[in-house]
Amino acid sequence: MKLSSSAILALFLLFSFYFFSCKPKDENQQVFIDKAELAPRHLRVIWTENPSTSAIISWTTLHEHGKVHRVFYDSLRRGGEKRNYVSQVSASKNGAISMVDEDLKEGVPQGYYHHADLTNLKPSTKYYFVVESDDLVSDEFYFITGPEDDRVISLLWGGDSRMGGPEPRYAGRTPHVDRQEMNKRIKSLMDEDPNILGFIHGADYGTTADWRHLFWWFEDHEIVIGEGNRLLPLIISRGNHDMQIGFEENFWLGDTQRKRGFDYYFATQFGSKTAILTLNTEISVAGDQRDWLEENLSNKRKENRWLLVNYHRPAYPVVKDFENATFKRVRDTWVPYFEKYNVDLALESDGHILKRTVPIRNNKYDETGIVYIGEGGLGVPQRVADSTRWFIQPPGFAMSAHNVHKLTFSREMIQIKAFGMDGEVLDQFEVKPRNLN
Ligand SMILES: [Fe+2]
Ligand SMILES: [Fe+2]
Repeated sequence: MKLSSSAILALFLLFSFYFFSCKPKDENQQVFIDKAELAPRHLRVIWTENPSTSAIISWTTLHEHGKVHRVFYDSLRRGGEKRNYVSQVSASKNGAISMVDEDLKEGVPQGYYHHADLTNLKPSTKYYFVVESDDLVSDEFYFITGPEDDRVISLLWGGDSRMGGPEPRYAGRTPHVDRQEMNKRIKSLMDEDPNILGFIHGADYGTTADWRHLFWWFEDHEIVIGEGNRLLPLIISRGNHDMQIGFEENFWLGDTQRKRGFDYYFATQFGSKTAILTLNTEISVAGDQRDWLEENLSNKRKENRWLLVNYHRPAYPVVKDFENATFKRVRDTWVPYFEKYNVDLALESDGHILKRTVPIRNNKYDETGIVYIGEGGLGVPQRVADSTRWFIQPPGFAMSAHNVHKLTFSREMIQIKAFGMDGEVLDQFEVKPRNLN
């Protein structure tokens, strides 16, 4: 049978239509991005030292750098009409996100980062904003600035959001189904409790900080948009999987970085009585960082009821080799200062497990010591703890479960709750004030 050329053409068109329309959604998502999608995306609010008065708003554009990148903001809802917002600020940093061969091979679109510094904000205030890249304006979102008084506040904290796809559990790009489930959990928690002000991420965002991994982390992060388009500001830290330049390009910390470069350690003051020091285990833990740590522990201890530390590599790992230098250096260098200044709680990640240690001082159980919680469960496949370690015997414990922690700070206590993927409470305890002030 011979086919005419028009019949061949018709068959070809039919085949093409069938081929493109029947591709599974996930596969489409991995490779094909609509070229028309130039609008701002991946909107996020970053907090550094002073969440009551400052915030950084960051976003991505795809395919084109664009010329004009601005944030329009106000303490009243303005419905997205940019001319109606009282304040505006231009992005202070814009640039092309570095692409390596694997990014190109895997088909993630060229991205551009944009970061704008908002300053002189009012404490405990809802700020509504849109971002604009050239003539394309985002939807209106809002976030709530930190307080400056001693009111009750809550923060969410969790680490390790790389991998976690279908079997095999490695997912280089997407779908990170377990990470997406944990993001849904974070969204539910923030919708249930308006006192949750921000999210502390204990690092290891993706398998690397190359764009093919961070792109999908940002895509998945869009799940964490609360009711009324509320964004939960992020306090970020750096882990051993976050070492590529993409991390520095996409996580800009404003003045914190203008002062000290890309060290990624800083002190965040929440209200008048809670301070959290974010440390960086991926650079020298001695030298400048240790000096900074001692100075800030000393200063912040005088002013605060609650003093916490957050960093990636654990001092008290329950999965990996306790004597390995990676952890020993943290334990030997920082823990004596944590104990000297009576830190109230230490937040650790990296191990891929849920844990709570006994209170520790001088490397042994001590009622006056510090409890270390961790170690990362935002979708990364969970490991198995070495259950014989002395520091996770009761009242300590460890279990393999995805987890996100809610920390609630009041005059009487820090209430700590660990939630699993389905919202079940996996751990719950309290830390009382040390009555040092
Ligand atoms: Fe890690
Ligand atoms: Fe990790």
